[in-house]
Amino acid sequence: MTVVSASAPGKVILFGEHAVVYGQPAIAVPLDQVRARAVIVPDVHLPSGEVRIYAPDIGLEASLSELPVEHPLAAAVRGVLAELGFERPPTCRVHLTSTIAAASGLGSGAAVSVALIRALSAYLGRPLPVDRVSALAFEVEKLHHGTPSGIDNTVIAYNRPIYFVRQRPIETLAPAEPLHLVVADSGIPSHTAQVVSAVRQAWQADTARYEALFQAIGAITQEGRYALEAGQVARLGALMDENHRLLVELGVSSPELDRLVTIARRWGALGAKLCGAGRGGNIVALTLLEDSERLARALQEAGATRTLISTVRAVPRPATTPSVEG
Ligand code: PMV
Repeated sequence: MTVVSASAPGKVILFGEHAVVYGQPAIAVPLDQVRARAVIVPDVHLPSGEVRIYAPDIGLEASLSELPVEHPLAAAVRGVLAELGFERPPTCRVHLTSTIAAASGLGSGAAVSVALIRALSAYLGRPLPVDRVSALAFEVEKLHHGTPSGIDNTVIAYNRPIYFVRQRPIETLAPAEPLHLVVADSGIPSHTAQVVSAVRQAWQADTARYEALFQAIGAITQEGRYALEAGQVARLGALMDENHRLLVELGVSSPELDRLVTIARRWGALGAKLCGAGRGGNIVALTLLEDSERLARALQEAGATRTLISTVRAVPRPATTPSVEG
């Protein structure tokens, strides 16, 4: 057996977080500047069938057999073994690293799962297709978050902009114009499971109000899809602003996130919103290419602990064949 590695990107939700848990559509794009990586190394010095996992970013070094079954990394490894019909694990070391900040709304958990599932299945000589990678990572997401919509594992496994509706087939999106994004971290951890559960309690207490907010977010997401595919970048920015306003009403923003969003707009962003579960984590601003460096600096000066500049590439549409009539 030889060394096998795989990596997976982070992700940013452009529209529809939280509402997506309640059946509304959402739009997410991969974030290539940050990645999770899994490296599988054969090790003849380990006892036969031992998988030794090293994840220095979270201070973990343990054997698979020592981890509780519901541990996300153990679940990912066992998920691959079960999927491929292996009763005994291979004897190997698994090294996991990530440049995606944890608890920041950029999909770090899903990216680690996707990288690990890809690397391990390839190591076992049976690389899994993308839909199975995503499905296995979704099972692990349930351990992280309880009731995930599935958007994180999907956008990260497919590594394409997606229009996502829970339990519906994935639709990839083709932006007509490149989208220049600046992502800025508030430095405050965002615990998805807690925020999702707080929204659920609020929805239970005032279902009509929250359903109306989710529907309004869903409508914005649909308009966002149209603007993205039509290359209406300024419109896209205005819709992001509107989405942020609704997230504030949902109760998932915070003074720090609102401040970063306001500063982004002040420095010329076409639009900005919190991204991911909220209460902490990152904001995403849509900007013109020539403004992106300046905007990132302004956000850092305003207290963002990290900024990332990213471009979602335009996808050329096939030339339309003129119809011949007559
Ligand atoms: O994992 P995060 O923080 O990016 O949140 C995912 C988005 C939510 O809609 C809040 C939850 C979900 O499962 O879709």
